[in-house]
Amino acid sequence: MNKIALLTSGGDSPGMNAAVRAIVKTCLFHNIVPIGIRDGYKGMVEGEMYEMKYSDVDNIIHTGGTILGSSRCLEFKNKETRITAINNLNQIGVEGLIVIGGDGTFTGASILSDEMGIPVIGIPGTIDNDIYGTDHTIGYDTALNTVIDAVDKIRDTASSHHRIFFIEVMGRHAGFIALNAAVASGAESVLIPEEIPDLNELVAQIQSQNKGKRSSIIIVAEGEQEGGSIELINKVAPMLEGYDLRPTVLGHIQRGGSPSAFDRILATRMGSYAVDLILEGQKGIMIGSDGDKLITTSLETAVKLHNTPDLERLRLLKKMLTRY
Ligand code: F6P
Repeated sequence: MNKIALLTSGGDSPGMNAAVRAIVKTCLFHNIVPIGIRDGYKGMVEGEMYEMKYSDVDNIIHTGGTILGSSRCLEFKNKETRITAINNLNQIGVEGLIVIGGDGTFTGASILSDEMGIPVIGIPGTIDNDIYGTDHTIGYDTALNTVIDAVDKIRDTASSHHRIFFIEVMGRHAGFIALNAAVASGAESVLIPEEIPDLNELVAQIQSQNKGKRSSIIIVAEGEQEGGSIELINKVAPMLEGYDLRPTVLGHIQRGGSPSAFDRILATRMGSYAVDLILEGQKGIMIGSDGDKLITTSLETAVKLHNTPDLERLRLLKKMLTRY
C-alpha cells in the first residue's frame, strides 16, 4: 500500500478537520502517502489532488469547516463522470479511498466501491446525525451545543419581553438536533420531521404555559411537516391573538465553529481506524460508533437505512412542562 486518498463531501461539519488530521498522521505513521482531494468528488473528477504532509495538518484539530474543501457534486451520479474520477486516482497510483460526509457522500461511495478496484471506507461527518450504523456522526455534538447556546440567549429576550419564539434549526429529514436541543434547552415544544404536528395541541400548550410564565421557546426542525418557523407562525397566529410570536432561523451558524472535545476524539478515532481497515484489506464499509466502541456497517446498508431519533424524548419533554 503506497497511497491512500481522502476527501470531505456534502455539508461541512465541525470535526472533519480532526478526521483529516488523523487519516494523514496514521498514513504517514505507516509510510503511506496521503493524497488530499480538494472539494469532494468534484476534485476527484477534475484531478484536484495533492500529496499531504505533516505540516498540512498542523493546528487544525480545533478548527471548524474542512481544509480540503467540500461540495455537493451532482454530476457524480453519471457513470462517465465517475470513470473520469477513478482514472484520475489510478493514474497517480492511489490504492485506497476514505470519504468523510453524510448520506449523499456515501451513496457515491457505495457505487464507487462496486465500480472501483480499490477499497473505499466511509466516515460519517454531518451535523444531522441521520446516518444509519452509528449513534454519533462527527459534528453533531458540536452543532447541538451551538444550538443550545443560541437558544439560551434567545430565552433571555423571550422571558424579558414575554414573547413566543419559534426557533428553526437544521435537519431536513431528521429531528435529532431539534429534539435534543429542545430537551437540553428546556423548550416548551418541538416539531420534527418524524412526527405529524398537532397545531391545536401546540396552541393549547402555548396558552397554558403562558398563564404564569408568559414566554415560550418552540424548537422547529427545518424539515418538519408544516414548512418551517415562518409558515408555522402564519398558521397559528390567528389562534394566538395577543401573543408576540417571533421566528428565528439559526441557519449555518450551526455548521461552523470549533469542534467539541467529543467530536475531536470521535473524529481522531474514526480517521485512524479508517486507515487501519484499509491496511487489513477491508472495503465498502462505513465506520460507526456504538457507545464507546467503533463498529462497521456496509456502505450499501448505511445508504439504504436511516437513523431516527428516540421519540420517547417527546414524551420526556411533555413531562417537563410546567402546569399552572
Ligand atoms: O446535511 C447537513 C445540512 O446542514 C442540513 O441540516 C441542511 O438542511 C443542509 O445541510 C443545508 O445544506 P446547504 O448548506 O448546502 O444549503
